[in-house]
Amino acid sequence: MPVKPSIKPADPRFSSGPTRKRPGWEPSALGQTSLGRSHRSGPPKQKLKEAIERAAAILEIPEDYRILITPASDTGAFEAAMWSMAGARGLDIFSWDAFGQRWLLDARDELKLDDLRIFEAPYGALPDLSKADPARDIVFTWNATAAGLKVPHADWIPEAREGLTFCDATSAAFAMELPWEKLDITTLSWQKCLGGEAQHGMVVLSPAARARLKTYRPAWPVPKVLQLFDAGDDHSAMFEGSTINTPSLLCVEDFLDGLRWAMKEDGLKGLVARSETNLSVLEDWVERTDWVEFVAADPATRSNTSVTLKFAGDAAGLDADGQRALAKAMAQALEREEAAYDILAYAKAPPGLRIWCGPTIDADDVAALCPWLDWAYETVRG
Ligand SMILES: Cc1ncc(COP(=O)(O)O)c(C=O)c1O
Repeated sequence: MPVKPSIKPADPRFSSGPTRKRPGWEPSALGQTSLGRSHRSGPPKQKLKEAIERAAAILEIPEDYRILITPASDTGAFEAAMWSMAGARGLDIFSWDAFGQRWLLDARDELKLDDLRIFEAPYGALPDLSKADPARDIVFTWNATAAGLKVPHADWIPEAREGLTFCDATSAAFAMELPWEKLDITTLSWQKCLGGEAQHGMVVLSPAARARLKTYRPAWPVPKVLQLFDAGDDHSAMFEGSTINTPSLLCVEDFLDGLRWAMKEDGLKGLVARSETNLSVLEDWVERTDWVEFVAADPATRSNTSVTLKFAGDAAGLDADGQRALAKAMAQALEREEAAYDILAYAKAPPGLRIWCGPTIDADDVAALCPWLDWAYETVRG
């Protein structure tokens, strides 16, 4: 029997969402003043506004961009953007994991856009981004959480463009630099890089996106929870924390806690550094380990948040079911030992493991995890 490593990660939570909370988090860290009050009344509204302002500061959002809070997490935010703004011109959609696929289905099967071009890639590669046409709208995911692949840059998006870019950045925001001048509509949730509570989303709007909201009404019906039309007005109350419907003020308090922690970590720079250090710990281990490799073939596309690994060497010779069973048994063994929770690859992704390396994870925990991964592999393979 392989010998168990003597040190365990201090926190075994490596899930890709909801993710672990920031180091030192306790329920008592949450403010209470907004609880049990109307979200339209003074102090709670102030908290919602503060969440927007702090997020804008940490994400280094340009002055002429605006942020609003939406219901239903990142899906709610992204679908609100699509239902409210798509269809004004032709749309190019780029998809390389299950989430990109979701936006594709929305565009093709729900909104039934007739002028739609689809660019897809199998797990492990990016589609040909150079095909993006700046005269058209562009839909893409900055970091495809299920695939573990991010776009390395936005050089393929011209600054001067006629269409709008719709970017799902939920597992990128607060852990990767985002070139705002290339992004017209960007969405994120609270339970990824800052370890917040789920069910709220944010939409970041460029001036061009707000102009679209002001001048365009889609042909399809838009449910109230997906209506962003009021955000066409630069002075909309939405940008001051007036939400579409009732938000969870406990989630807001928790998000504020994450934002305050982020500031203490030196803002975006510090968050990106924490996440990249975590990835580099795994990179060193993968480099010296013969049974594993990254799903992302090109290192430039390797996610520093949702890090995905597949089998190499002997184990890669197993068929897909065999590899899936191996990964599952490893993940279960690690969970039983309380060395790692929730690290099985996304169901539709190549069989293997997915390890969250976002900013709330400590590098020491990633380092402590590596010998446990070897232990699990050797134990299950026998
Ligand atoms: C890239 C991406 N898009 C969308 C979603 C869906 O997000 P939510 O559950 O916040 O609606 C996820 C969830 O993991 C994701 O990773």
